[in-house]
Amino acid sequence: MVVFRRALRLDHMQSSSTMAATAAAARLRAQGHTVIDLGAGEPDFDTPENIRQAAIQALETGKTRYTPASGIAELKQAIVDYMARETGTTYPASAVIVSAGGKQTLFNALVSVVNPGDEVVIPAPYWVTFPEIVAFCGGVSVFIPTHEHDFRLTAAMVERVLTPRTRVVILNSPSNPSGAVIAPEDIHQIAELCAARDLWLISDECYYRFVYPPGRPFSAAALPAALRERVLVSGSLSKTYAMTGWRIGYALAHPDWVAEMTKVQSHSTSNPTTFAQWAAIEALRGSQDSVAAMLAEYRTRRDWIVSALAALPGVRCRMPEGAFYAFPDISAVLEKTGLRDVDFAQRLLEEAHVVVTAGSAFGAEGYLRISYANSLDNLQRGVENIRALIERLG
Ligand SMILES: Cc1ncc(COP(=O)(O)O)c(C=O)c1O
Repeated sequence: MVVFRRALRLDHMQSSSTMAATAAAARLRAQGHTVIDLGAGEPDFDTPENIRQAAIQALETGKTRYTPASGIAELKQAIVDYMARETGTTYPASAVIVSAGGKQTLFNALVSVVNPGDEVVIPAPYWVTFPEIVAFCGGVSVFIPTHEHDFRLTAAMVERVLTPRTRVVILNSPSNPSGAVIAPEDIHQIAELCAARDLWLISDECYYRFVYPPGRPFSAAALPAALRERVLVSGSLSKTYAMTGWRIGYALAHPDWVAEMTKVQSHSTSNPTTFAQWAAIEALRGSQDSVAAMLAEYRTRRDWIVSALAALPGVRCRMPEGAFYAFPDISAVLEKTGLRDVDFAQRLLEEAHVVVTAGSAFGAEGYLRISYANSLDNLQRGVENIRALIERLG
C-alpha cells in the first residue's frame, strides 16, 4: 500500500471552491438533472466570430509550434497598443509577458516576489485564488475586510495593515466577488503608499472592461510613471472576449519582474498556446463591438437581479459597479435559521439544483456570490428557488 505524502508547501493550499461548485453542477447534470449554474465566473456568450476565425486561420497556417516562453512579439505589441489606446501609457515589449490566463500571470507574479514569511495585503472579499498562491509561496495573507464599508477600499484601510514584513498589495477592481470598483484616487494613493514603503502593487484587472456606465474603466497602467514602476497590471482575455477556455492573460510590469516570471513560465508551461496567441491579436486589434454588446446585456441582467434579490425577505443586495456578480447579504436569513452560508448554498444545490457560491469562500461569511453571466430566464428561476428556500426555512 503506497502512502502519498504531499510536499509541505501545499499544506496550506485549498482546492478552488468556485471550481468545486462547477464540478458539483456537472455531477448533477450527469445524473440527468437540469441545473441552473449561477456559480461559474464564466461568460455565457460564445467567443466572437472574428476571434474564432483568426484561430482557425492560425491553425491552417501552421501556427502550431512552440513560441518564445513570454509570448509572440506580435501579441506583445498588440497588448502594448491596446494599453496605449486604453490608458495613454506605452510600455516597452520587455515589460510584457503573455501567460495561460490571468491565473498563471498572478501565479508567476507572486512566486517571483514573495518569500516565506512575507505579508501580502488582500482586500476581502477576495478572489479565492489570491490567498492560495500566497500560501503556496509560504507567504502570509493579510486581509482587509471591506464589507462593513460598503466594499469600499481606501488607502487609509491599506495603510493600517502595513508592517515591515509587507511585500505586496493586491487590488482587484472591479472585484470578484463583490463587483465593487475602487476609486481611481484611492488606487493612486495606495500606489503612493507602496512607493513610500518600497512595496509591490498587483492590480488584477481581469474585469477592467466590465464597468457599468456612468462609471468608466480605470487601469493602474494610467498612474504616473514613478508610481507605475512598482505596479504589475494583470490582464486577461477570458472574460472580456468570452475566451475562458483559450487561456490567454498577460502582465505589464517592471522588466526585471517580467524576466523572473518568464523564467518560471519557461520551466512550467513554456509558452501559452500558440494559435490562441494569434487569435488574441484579433481580439485586441479587431472590432470591440462584442464587448460593448456583452456589457449592455450584463447591465440589463444586473439591474434585474439586484432588485429581485433585494426584494427577498431578509436579503440585502448592493448594486455592483462592475464585473458580473451579485453579492447579496443573506446574514439575516442565516441568523434566523442557524445555517451558515455554505449550508444555504448546499441546500440550494441539493433541493433546487441551483449553483451559487457561499461568501465564506471569498472571506465574507453571510453572503452569496451569484454570477449573472447567465440568461435572464435562468436568473429568474434561480431567484425564485432562493425565495422558495428562504420560505421553507421559515
Ligand atoms: C479576479 C480574477 N482574476 C483573475 C482571474 C483569472 O482568469 P483567467 O485565468 O481565466 O484569465 C479570474 C477568473 O475567474 C478572476 O475572477
